[in-house]
Amino acid sequence: MDRIVVTGGKRLQGTVHISGAKNAVLPIMAATLLADGTYNLDNVPVLKDVKTMASLLDSIGSDVQFENHSLLIKTGSSHNFEAPYDLVKTMRASIYVLGPLVSRFGYGKVSLPGGCAWGPRPVNLHIEGLKKLGAKVEIQNGYIVAKAKRLKGAKITLDIPSVGATGNILMAAVLAKGTTLIENAAKEPEITSLEMFLKKMGAEINGIGTERLEIEGVETLEAVDEAIISDRIESGTFLIAGHITGGDIRLEKTQPLFLSSIINKLRDTGAEIEEGPDWIHIKSNEQIHPIDVTTAVYPGFPTDMQAQWMVLMSIANGSSIITDNIFEDRFTHVAELKRLGANITLDHNVAVVKGVQYLSGAPVMSTDLRASASLILAGLIAKGKTHISRVYHIDRGYERIEEKLKLLGAEIYRDQEQLIV
Ligand code: EPU
Repeated sequence: MDRIVVTGGKRLQGTVHISGAKNAVLPIMAATLLADGTYNLDNVPVLKDVKTMASLLDSIGSDVQFENHSLLIKTGSSHNFEAPYDLVKTMRASIYVLGPLVSRFGYGKVSLPGGCAWGPRPVNLHIEGLKKLGAKVEIQNGYIVAKAKRLKGAKITLDIPSVGATGNILMAAVLAKGTTLIENAAKEPEITSLEMFLKKMGAEINGIGTERLEIEGVETLEAVDEAIISDRIESGTFLIAGHITGGDIRLEKTQPLFLSSIINKLRDTGAEIEEGPDWIHIKSNEQIHPIDVTTAVYPGFPTDMQAQWMVLMSIANGSSIITDNIFEDRFTHVAELKRLGANITLDHNVAVVKGVQYLSGAPVMSTDLRASASLILAGLIAKGKTHISRVYHIDRGYERIEEKLKLLGAEIYRDQEQLIV
């Protein structure tokens, strides 16, 4: 297994290119099941999750080629409408194929994702939404099996503006007969990009980018090309890397508009930030004011940045409070950050972080994607060496993170973990 080794203390400087967004490309890849033809997706990040979704589409019957950040997907010979447990257990976003499969082919079978490292993560809203559209949905031997002759438009009000449920129901509704109304829909940029992609394919959607989506089902859609939007979480992670190291870095190929809550909070902590249409420049004087954050749906502060923010607060000049209201158990990084010397007290979904003078390197273990990112960030400022094991999590969502950090001046490398048996 790979591990990442970081020696802390280097000031980051230079330019970093931000990759395409994982959470935007995954639903778009699933959406290609909605129409026969050839799709060319550009600015696709080279990530484990993208490869998993490519394998899933391949097993369903699409021909997928992935080269130079471009995905060429040829659909048309679909014959196996199933997402098996082995794929779903490594990537929950596999559930995105359920909506397109049942809508287009009248049948979809996807393994129930089960829990994840930080909690149960239910999919009840996906299932209830598909049922409202007229699908017969049953749980059989650990699989969600959905069937329908043709889905029918319906009014669906989501209890929670779930990203995944909005995407899945939307992809089902575009080919349903009649009008579907999704109320309390997610407004995350990745969902808006899916809405725009579907519209390009010929879907009739009103209210793009809002919490009220009105979809008029069409008979058929057509294959189109798309460029994937930039990854706002990768951008936010690099901004924090710049700030904690007292650095001066410029992000290119990013979309600052998607990061306003993060940028505003970073400014409150004392970072100097300038932005243009597709770039962000951060300069830090190493003074970090403690600033509270509470995660919320977009445009609020993203849960996917909570762990990274905790690292920033761990060396702030005072105490701050971090609350995660989206995933209340998403705190597996706390115990590892404490091993590096952070002073954090956790009470359910509320962490109180008292800034310390410095962190000290130690062996730590990554438990999920964003927790891994937080440990790498902590390693950048810890005195001495930090060994982060189980970094396969990071490869799910950050493209070559250690190479990008190295180009900015970090002392970081990847090697093989020595296993003691
Ligand atoms: N929820 C339900 N029932 C459902 C679906 C969700 O109760 O059927 C709850 C969840 O338990 C959670 C809240 O709704 O408390 C929000 O979950 P959501 O469905 O919005 O999350 P998701 O679709 O499973 C996506 C991202 C996550 C990101 C969240 C929140 C993808 C592939 N994943 O997950 O990204 O944290 O939205 O923004 O888009 C990551 O990239 O590290 C990651 C975990």
